[in-house]
Amino acid sequence: MMKILSIVGARPEFVQGAPVSRALREHNQEILVHTGQHYDYQMSQAFFDELGIPAPDYNLGVGSGSHGWQTAEILARLEHVLIKEQPDLVIVRGDTNSTLSGVLAASKLHIPTAHVEAGERSFDRRMPEEINRLVADSIADLHFCVSQSAVRHLAAEGITGSVHWVGDVMLDALLQNRPIARRRSVILSRLDLRPGAYSLVTVHRAGNTDDPVRLSEIVQALNDVQETVVFPMHPRTRNALARLDAQLAAHIRPIEPVSYFDMMMLEENARLIATDSGGVQREAYFLRIPCLTLRDETEWVETVEVGWNRLVGADAERILEAWYGFAPPTEHPDVFGDGTAAVRIARVLRDGAVSFGLPCPKHAIRSKSAESPASSGTEEQS
Ligand code: UD1
Ligand code: UDP
Repeated sequence: MMKILSIVGARPEFVQGAPVSRALREHNQEILVHTGQHYDYQMSQAFFDELGIPAPDYNLGVGSGSHGWQTAEILARLEHVLIKEQPDLVIVRGDTNSTLSGVLAASKLHIPTAHVEAGERSFDRRMPEEINRLVADSIADLHFCVSQSAVRHLAAEGITGSVHWVGDVMLDALLQNRPIARRRSVILSRLDLRPGAYSLVTVHRAGNTDDPVRLSEIVQALNDVQETVVFPMHPRTRNALARLDAQLAAHIRPIEPVSYFDMMMLEENARLIATDSGGVQREAYFLRIPCLTLRDETEWVETVEVGWNRLVGADAERILEAWYGFAPPTEHPDVFGDGTAAVRIARVLRDGAVSFGLPCPKHAIRSKSAESPASSGTEEQS
């Protein structure tokens, strides 16, 4: 039994963390740390309530701020927890500032680290997420990949021995929770929506919200479509639209961020989804809903290659053309696994301790912490 410390902080990490926590807790002790990067009820606690995620053992309460400040603050606060808890392994997921700080704090204390959703790349280093992923992957000891393209990206960066293709824990979460969401969510009736008679939009990526030209183009396209557009707004987007003084047409329904169950039902019943979210692109694919991605590139290239997702950038003309002209094929391969990623991760950790170089994590920590670097390698082999 290992003592595993899991780090979450932002909305997608709560969704990704839920199935992993459940699987890990069958055979390990899990310490859950919430960095506090997201903190509004609808951005954080709503997910713990619905997904039955255990209450965090620590909430670092970092809140919002600039990248440097937020990353540094999480790093400093987390270090205290890691020193106190002395976990055998730290798990980070995705590509947020919480991911970056988590992997850095643990590595500096010579605690082994695992990165869930490793190897995804946009090849756009202006994206904060790309920097977070590159750093996390280069220093993590274990890499769990959603897609085969992620495995290839890691190989191209010389990362091979520690890589496991397990599929997408977001698919696990969706399959586990969809039956419950179907029973409990009343979002369609609350918003007076008919299945298949509306589109769903989310926007929050810095590249769109912080660029007034791109954001205005997206708004113009949404204003010009001829159907109900449900638009759950990330606080970042709400603030950006207010700064822009953007006027939304009457068929656009801006709403507060919705809970996971409500989001699943909004997605499942939409005619079309347009988004710049990584999680929502994959969920659109799982649910077989045509997806337009409001970006110039995507990490989730498989969804584009198989024809279920189209990159439309932030160009009003391209968005409008695809809004009505895009039709995915009938083929729908399981490119992101079979919904058992969390169990696979837990199994790798349980069985694979020796085979991928985490022989006895406590032992590894001790040896890596030794004063003399020369002593670490030999002790770990013993
Ligand atoms: C972060 C991640 C992004 C992820 C997204 C998921 C980084 C660099 N980015 O982006 O990869 O896709 O989370 O949603 O880590 N805010 C609130 N209430 C909250 C949280 C945020 O009002 O509970 C507002 C604040 O004004 C804050 C802004 O949203 O400054 C941005 O939040 P932040 O966590 O910095 O980045 P996200 O855009 O959410
Ligand atoms: N999500 C949600 N409510 C919303 C918007 C998103 O529950 O109002 C869920 C979504 O279904 C997915 C996750 O949040 O599971 C994705 O998070 P987000 O889009 O914020 O981040 P990304 O995946 O782009 O990092």
